Amino acid sequence: MRFMTNKKIVLDRISPSADESVVDCLSVVEEQRIPSPAEDELLLKVVLSAIHPCDLLCSAGIVSRFRDFGGHRNTEVLPGLEAVAHVQQVGAALQGSFVVGQRVTVKAWSPWGEWEIADGVWSEYLCVKSDKVITVPEAVSDLAASTFFSVSVTSYVMIKEVLQLKKGDWLLQGAGGSALGRWIIEFCRYQGINVISTVRRQEQVNQLKGACETDKVIHCASDGSNAAQVVEYIESLCGVRGLKGALDPISDGVFSSIALKLLSRYGTVLKYGALSDAPMFLERDALTAMSQEGLSIRGFSIQNWWIPDTSDDHKRVVYQKVWDYLQASNQECAVESVFPFDKFDHAIVKSLGSKTGKVFLTPREEELQ
Ligand SMILES: NC(=O)c1ccc[n+]([C@@H]2O[C@H](COP(=O)([O-])OP(=O)(O)OC[C@H]3O[C@@H](n4cnc5c(N)ncnc54)[C@H](OP(=O)(O)O)[C@@H]3O)[C@@H](O)[C@H]2O)c1
Repeated sequence: MRFMTNKKIVLDRISPSADESVVDCLSVVEEQRIPSPAEDELLLKVVLSAIHPCDLLCSAGIVSRFRDFGGHRNTEVLPGLEAVAHVQQVGAALQGSFVVGQRVTVKAWSPWGEWEIADGVWSEYLCVKSDKVITVPEAVSDLAASTFFSVSVTSYVMIKEVLQLKKGDWLLQGAGGSALGRWIIEFCRYQGINVISTVRRQEQVNQLKGACETDKVIHCASDGSNAAQVVEYIESLCGVRGLKGALDPISDGVFSSIALKLLSRYGTVLKYGALSDAPMFLERDALTAMSQEGLSIRGFSIQNWWIPDTSDDHKRVVYQKVWDYLQASNQECAVESVFPFDKFDHAIVKSLGSKTGKVFLTPREEELQ
């Protein structure tokens, strides 16, 4: 069905925090016309976009994208980091490079060259420059394509480029039930890398074991009350100081302290998220191990430093490797539910609760299958 209006979700003020209060700062707008592309632009029709923790952090001004928004009372900002879309119209200067109907993944920021602060993708129709899209190979599903950057490329770069893990290495990750955590488990199995995952809820242990066909999952209490058992369990799998690397999206200190006690010499805890809003305290034993074993805690951001500081030639190689992997493995992003734009409030609340996959947005209820 073709609609002659354009639905979009706009942010009309910065949210006081990256939680349910974001809902009050967003609204659905229905424009009575579909935008027209300039000659160097594509008109896209968005199909699916996942809600990421970073979408909420951006809406609260905690992550840089909307930080300068506060003073501009009359400016609406379009949130949404990434989507899969179909090309609807090709600007004159792009004829021959794109065709109508082609599937692309579109980003709020260009995946090439320098990273620039830009508008997001939560709009049914979007006019974008061609450097904001990457063509999706035919064999890759809409679901996998819609999280190409935020889940697949991010995980790939952390594991293969930054930690440089190889077959037989041991990796520890926190928040194993997250979309990235699930992707990492499956990707590492494919690569022959051993992954041990922690989850914060006991009931999630068996759920994750079943969903990702792994037996290496353990509950790690957020207050650190079972940290000694977690250390013991990990040592029973990979031996004393048997970990080559650790991925920490939590940043409350409990997980990183455990990792530092288990990493082999010169090992790295890669801190790529701040799911906890508690301050990060590291245990004395962990800090001692850090200096004695030459360990590091290092930050990672795909958009703030990997994209701008990596050559386009190398990024092209990495993107192709990720597409090749997605085609060969048929790996999908786990889905919790899909909501139309009109129900973005339910979608955001759902994305903040306990779930077993990503919450997605699609422009129209009528087009949900
Ligand atoms: N640095 C980068 O370039 C980059 C890029 C993409 C994503 N990220 C980060 O990656 C992380 C995961 O993203 P995602 O999209 O995969 O998330 P997601 O699918 O929305 O899942 C969030 C997961 O985090 C768990 N969680 C939430 N708060 C926690 C806490 N305090 N302690 C332990 N676990 C907690 C949740 O567990 P429950 O099920 O128990 O609620 C859930 O499993 C986020 O921090 C995101 O910002 C970073």
